[in-house]
Amino acid sequence: MSGGPRIRGVAEGDWAVIGDLESQAYAPLGLSEGPGALRKYQQASPDTCFVVDVGGGRVAGYLMALPFPEGGWPELGQGGGAAGRRGGRAPYGPLAPDPYNLHLHDVVIAPELRRRGLAMRLVRHLVGIARTRAYRSVSLVSVGGTQAFWRERGFTVRPDVAAPGGYGSDAVYMSLSLADAPIDVPIDVPTDAPIGELTDELTDELSGVRVCSP
Ligand SMILES: CC(C)(COP(=O)(O)OP(=O)(O)OC[C@H]1O[C@@H](n2cnc3c(N)ncnc32)[C@H](O)[C@@H]1OP(=O)(O)O)[C@@H](O)C(=O)NCCC(=O)NCCS
Repeated sequence: MSGGPRIRGVAEGDWAVIGDLESQAYAPLGLSEGPGALRKYQQASPDTCFVVDVGGGRVAGYLMALPFPEGGWPELGQGGGAAGRRGGRAPYGPLAPDPYNLHLHDVVIAPELRRRGLAMRLVRHLVGIARTRAYRSVSLVSVGGTQAFWRERGFTVRPDVAAPGGYGSDAVYMSLSLADAPIDVPIDVPTDAPIGELTDELTDELSGVRVCSP
């Protein structure tokens, strides 16, 4: 197996870095869930949770997604407990499992490695998997002012779904219909995908960066 930059599944040794990245990104917003909840998402759906390995097993970012009822969102800190409401009406209560919607619960890239297309690659990878497994949509809750980022990736705000409670004042539910997804992905998605199209310069830069000091 190549030691170069790639997207791969989460390994036991990744959790310390994942926990650091999550806390760094969300504690300032009061939205940190802690590693216990993240582990539960990954245990619920290991094939749709990945890390960006920048070489030698070092993790530069992660993405956690799981099959989840369309129009709902995991309650923060619960690792998958369902919540959701449409149009401001009462919560669904226990939500039926939805084999057609993948919920992109979280994606974080290390601050020093942002704006290099790494999150985009993780999202593409997930959308590729969603397509091959016949999911109809990918949903998420945009937090921390990231709506524009998601719009650029083809996600649209869902006015029929009320603002997710507990995710902060600017939280917005968004989704991507795979029938008209503009993201170009291969049909066959390898489970351990080399991150293609990186320039030699960026590959050198990634392998020289110390991500999240232990
Ligand atoms: C959002 C995040 C995952 C993006 O990661 P990234 O690897 O930098 O993203 P990419 O390099 O693939 O895409 C960068 C592009 O997205 C846009 N973008 C990135 N973050 C953005 C933000 N917060 N708001 C609006 N646009 C944003 C930029 O326009 C950039 O394009 P440009 O460099 O041409 O200007 C990263 O900023 C992050 O980890 N943030 C903290 C956690 C977070 O908010 N996650 C999403 C929660 S819903």
